[in-house]
Amino acid sequence: MQYRKFGRTGLTVSRLCLGTMTFGLQTEESVSHRILDKAVEAGVNFIDTADVYPLGGGEEHAGRTEEIVGRWMKGKRDRFIVATKAVGKVGPSSWDQGASRKHLLDAIDASLRRLDTDYVDLYQLHSDDRDTPLDETLEALDVIVRSGKARYIGVSNFLAYRLARALGRADVLRVARFVSVQPRYNLLFRQIERELLPLVDEEQLAVIPYNPLAGGLLTGKHRHDIKPDSGRFTASVGSAGKTYQDRYWHEREFETIDKLNAIAKQSGTPLTKLSLAWVLANPLVTSAIIGASHPDQLTDTLSTIDFKLDEELKTQLDDTTVEYRWGDALR
Ligand SMILES: NC(=O)c1ccc[n+]([C@@H]2O[C@H](COP(=O)([O-])OP(=O)(O)OC[C@H]3O[C@@H](n4cnc5c(N)ncnc54)[C@H](OP(=O)(O)O)[C@@H]3O)[C@@H](O)[C@H]2O)c1
Repeated sequence: MQYRKFGRTGLTVSRLCLGTMTFGLQTEESVSHRILDKAVEAGVNFIDTADVYPLGGGEEHAGRTEEIVGRWMKGKRDRFIVATKAVGKVGPSSWDQGASRKHLLDAIDASLRRLDTDYVDLYQLHSDDRDTPLDETLEALDVIVRSGKARYIGVSNFLAYRLARALGRADVLRVARFVSVQPRYNLLFRQIERELLPLVDEEQLAVIPYNPLAGGLLTGKHRHDIKPDSGRFTASVGSAGKTYQDRYWHEREFETIDKLNAIAKQSGTPLTKLSLAWVLANPLVTSAIIGASHPDQLTDTLSTIDFKLDEELKTQLDDTTVEYRWGDALR
């Protein structure tokens, strides 16, 4: 494993972070624990979860994934950097979501209870709540950091201009500052290269991209004309199956996969490895968040850390997918 400094903080994390959103719906608890074990054996010390997980479980199952991680972590909490998130809907009341002071102060306590820990290392806003004033959110997060319940704070799914405003307001208010971003980033979704990454570079924030394999499309295992009967692109992950189809299941994406498959074949490297190595090759990427519904899927992804993507191959991949720097803001 390789390790890298987490933005401008004094923290260091593994360059692969294990995502957990399959745990508790797509993947049962014992298999989830085997996935965690396998990642840790390979040197992963960084785990990402969220209060709304499992993916596709809806608010009635929200929190299951954190509980599964909490039971696995018992007795070894101090060996891991643990990140979780709030903002998604986790209960029936109108205030059981969002980034209000009321919700965030409740949400951190609920996450700590489920994870069975006194603190998380990184507490992230899962998305931007535009209905709550930024100052209210920042002051609530500052209370959480000062109380020791979170060591650092970060954002996910933020547009660059909103993050720039938040950083500016935190400086004015003299409250805790965001130290990281968790954006979607892969060969089929490159919009963050235009505005978010230049901001991150200037502000020295950590970058921990999710969806590095486009939910599995960049393994090359799917075909446009064959609807899979299980997994990420199906109703087995509830309404998320449709979300992922809307994101990636299009003729244009499959045509690109054909071109990428040809490059993979020519280079003698599996597309899964090439795709993840391409994300890691961006010098601004701190750690890529990998996901799995079965431990075997980690074999290719974990071994990517020892694979060096040469410049020529990287340029080929860049050129083949350059059109994905443009497109809908957050499809
Ligand atoms: N902040 C956010 O909004 C957000 C959003 C999404 C994810 N995340 C985080 O990022 C983590 C990773 O995201 P992701 O799961 O979307 O990453 P991903 O790497 O794009 O997709 C992982 C999925 O691809 C398939 N896969 C992976 N390796 C494979 C292999 N070797 N062979 C065949 N199939 C393989 C599996 O899906 P199937 O088995 O179902 O085919 C697996 O669950 C999540 O767990 C979560 O922690 C955050």
